[in-house]
Amino acid sequence: MSRAIPIAVFASGSGSNFQAIAEAIEQQQLHAKIELVVTDKPDAYVIKRAESKGIPVLAVRPKDFSSKEEYEEAILQALREKKVEWLILAGYMRLVGHTLLQGFASRIVNIHPSLLPSFTGKDAIGQAMDHGVKITGVTVHYVDEGMDTGPIIMQKAVDVIDNNREETEAAIHAVEHDLYVAALKDILK
Ligand code: GRF
Repeated sequence: MSRAIPIAVFASGSGSNFQAIAEAIEQQQLHAKIELVVTDKPDAYVIKRAESKGIPVLAVRPKDFSSKEEYEEAILQALREKKVEWLILAGYMRLVGHTLLQGFASRIVNIHPSLLPSFTGKDAIGQAMDHGVKITGVTVHYVDEGMDTGPIIMQKAVDVIDNNREETEAAIHAVEHDLYVAALKDILK
């Protein structure tokens, strides 16, 4: 059997996508190992999810460093110590800088809750609803220096449920969890 690909998951919030990836690995749908969870928010719920699975967490606040380069250098060092090969962004609410982009060229992926190139950046679901679109969706893409601009790996459409943000969001999250696992199966070979 081939080796499990060592990955790190980056998250700033709840971590439901982290959870979906971790469970897919446990159920042997995905042949990878989460060596580290990286978060920029020391109170993010993803930390509890990781700890309950015994996965190490690196919580680092950018404001504790004198520059973005130093912040990312600290992360890079931890990733190297763990021999991580791929970075999986799952609700990491920061633009990745050149230190990590160079360290992991073409090996950083992200999930975004819209059909890119529509509705980049924050609150993509709110943007779609404010715009009145009837169909939105989910995109998994490679990360480049732009905001949600890298090459697209997989997309899936989701119907907007009129005037119901909560239900639309729930439908998008459910699709995210399946789509991320499907995309990672494809690329982590
Ligand atoms: C997801 O909607 C993801 O697409 C976006 O941030 C959200 C993270 O959710 N980038 P979670 O923390 O994985 O629950």
